[in-house]
Amino acid sequence: MHVVVGVTGGIAAYKATSLIRAFTEAGHTVKVIPTANALRFIGATTLEALSHNTVDPDLYTDVADVKHVQLGQEADLIVVAPATASFLARYAAGIADDLLGSTLLATTAPVLVAPAMHSEMWNHQATQANVKTLRERGVDVLEPAVGRLTGEDSGPGRLPEPEEIFAAAIALRYPQDLAGKRVLVTAGGTQEPVDPVRFLGNRSSGKQGVSIALAAQARGAEVTLIAANLSESSLGLRDVIRVSTADQMLDAVNSAFDSSDIIIMAAAVADFKAASYEESKIKKSNPVSNYSIDLVPNVDILKSVVERRNSENKQQLIVGFAAETASNDAELTKLAEIKLENKGCDFLVANNVAGGAIFNSDQTSVLILNNRGEGVGAQGSKKLVAHELLDFIVR
Ligand code: CTP
Repeated sequence: MHVVVGVTGGIAAYKATSLIRAFTEAGHTVKVIPTANALRFIGATTLEALSHNTVDPDLYTDVADVKHVQLGQEADLIVVAPATASFLARYAAGIADDLLGSTLLATTAPVLVAPAMHSEMWNHQATQANVKTLRERGVDVLEPAVGRLTGEDSGPGRLPEPEEIFAAAIALRYPQDLAGKRVLVTAGGTQEPVDPVRFLGNRSSGKQGVSIALAAQARGAEVTLIAANLSESSLGLRDVIRVSTADQMLDAVNSAFDSSDIIIMAAAVADFKAASYEESKIKKSNPVSNYSIDLVPNVDILKSVVERRNSENKQQLIVGFAAETASNDAELTKLAEIKLENKGCDFLVANNVAGGAIFNSDQTSVLILNNRGEGVGAQGSKKLVAHELLDFIVR
């Protein structure tokens, strides 16, 4: 999602760096808007480097882009940390004389404010009245932490820890309906080696699986992603197991099985692998048996996980995917129903991949079925469809 992080002029401004990093590491796009006074405490260069985005708090540059409106409309979430007493007063009064103030008036996104100041300033009637006004308007104002302040003094007024602000912000944007659940997701496409140079692979980009993993993480789940051949070094997920072949994926899924409540198998797994691996590159002059490669089947991981769950009397919810080439919706539904039955899983997400559609695209259109005969269609960005799938599972 697009997150705007507002930073105002207090000593705790340096802690905004950890908050910005938490958002970027979780895969979000971050735009930082410091106030002029924030830049007395922390440099724009630091904020740019950590957010991977330019920082220009001047309301009067790039005027043609109408920056405040663009930032306000684009934002899925705005967090102001630290928020000074002066900022709270200006925001409560609707003063929009800088980029942060005007962006806040131009947005409909949820806003989280994390105040930090001396206890006397926090407890002052003016500040408390401003906080009350903002809360009445739907702004989420965190209580400051109690502890050591800038000087020798201590009391309420410390900026809450960046991890707490991050968690509160994410919870504001997404329902935490998967909190306490452990979700295992497979993503990408397996590769079955033929010789040191070649492999049998498929066109899966992994985008749908990664989107589901990120969506589950945003909704409070503890997520493990088994990533097959995904090149991005950072996927924004805390627990990623890298695999390449179907056999490696099978081992990884089996290892994570016991510690999973929900298993979502979005990866495109090769149904076959080469019967034998050639240690040396196959030369044109010396082909493997008349230019053909003998194949043997891979284990159907999804089916084996369902069988294991059933034989061990476990409770995992298991979600399979289906890549089908159907000529219309009715045929897709029929193929999906057959695959759901055949795999024995609880949910099936069917894609119509006819004509190469969907692979590597950011957009998708799916049919989600459950084993009670209910179904729902979902289309749009893979991120959106990820949430629709989780909504359906949670329901
Ligand atoms: N799958 C799996 N192990 C395999 C093949 C597929 O776990 N060896 C899983 C995929 O992760 C997906 C589901 O099975 O969740 C369906 O994959 P798909 O390729 O659509 O179906 P197949 O089972 O391969 O059946 P077919 O190719 O006959 O359509």
